[in-house]
Amino acid sequence: IKKIGILTGGGDCPGLNPVIRAVTKTAINVYGWEVVGFRNGYKGLYNNDWIPLDDKSTSGLLHKGGTILYSSNKDNLFHYLVEENGEMVYKDVSDVGVENIRNLGIDVMFIVGGDGTLTSARDFARKGINVIAIPKTIDNDLASTDTTFGFSTAVNVATEALDRLHTTAQSHHRIMVLEVMGRYAGWIALHAGIAGGADVILVPEIPYDIHKVAQKIEDRKKKGKDFSIVVVGEGAKPIDGEVVVRDVIKDSPDPIRLGGIGIKVAQDLEKLCGNETRATILGHLQRGGSPSASDRILSTRYGVAAVRLAAEGKFGNMVTLRGDNMSYDSLENVIGRKSKNVNPTGELVEAAKAIGISFGF
Ligand code: F6P
Repeated sequence: IKKIGILTGGGDCPGLNPVIRAVTKTAINVYGWEVVGFRNGYKGLYNNDWIPLDDKSTSGLLHKGGTILYSSNKDNLFHYLVEENGEMVYKDVSDVGVENIRNLGIDVMFIVGGDGTLTSARDFARKGINVIAIPKTIDNDLASTDTTFGFSTAVNVATEALDRLHTTAQSHHRIMVLEVMGRYAGWIALHAGIAGGADVILVPEIPYDIHKVAQKIEDRKKKGKDFSIVVVGEGAKPIDGEVVVRDVIKDSPDPIRLGGIGIKVAQDLEKLCGNETRATILGHLQRGGSPSASDRILSTRYGVAAVRLAAEGKFGNMVTLRGDNMSYDSLENVIGRKSKNVNPTGELVEAAKAIGISFGF
């Protein structure tokens, strides 16, 4: 190996810059490889838009959110919108990407992303490109690895939000509902809910009965606690309803954008309990800004392990964290595996229940 390329695809998350830094520094310091970064995910691969990365250009990145390489959500080169005879049409332009990689003399591509980005990574591996994948998502729902970077930061942000909501809830005897991200997995809601002392946690994995939620709030009032804190994962759904869809992004590999269930929960609770109720949708605050200390460490470990995997010639794999060990799994296995979800009868949910947190069922 003489030269490697790296790109970040899909939604950003805290830890991407530390990964770029770790891959670049390890590649240069330990192996003496040359490194280039493609900008805007696969779009940069298609447009041959890259920058050289070196020790200097990756210094000072550890604490920075986002990605210096930028990212793009709609960047599947196997199904890419291009202009042809004055019309916009979807085409498989992956050969252009392969050609650019070959022309630049890149021996290994490091692809950092979630399921959409990594599906394309697998497809590039099938086309003969040496690929090493690095998983990222704040949702922590990837099955092949224990924890992804970005998750800890998101939980910290949501926990701080809960601390702040507590004091204002108390002052006004209100019910405060906080909607957090996580797609169809309730990891952020569950972790932040426990860390932030929520009274109710609603997660996608446990359909909730709003009357049970209201009952919990009434029980608190009887004990003299006239305010309540409810955390809702964006993919939560009532036993008699559906998830709330905020937006549908046409032709995206990941078209459904969830969001808004927190407002519904707040409206329902105000009617049932009579307390003034407010909803906060935390949104992209969970994705932006400086990575937590543990995400800086985790993303550094992922980056270093990815380079070592390449040096061993183990292409077509994604680096994983298993227990306290960095390991790997083949992209063929990773793609199409069911996402990792909260176990409704698992230890963490049971622990939350033991200290009086309701899941609304
Ligand atoms: O997968 C990460 C995530 O932040 C989800 O938690 C959320 O549902 C989604 O991405 C939001 O996507 P977008 O940035 O396209 O609105």
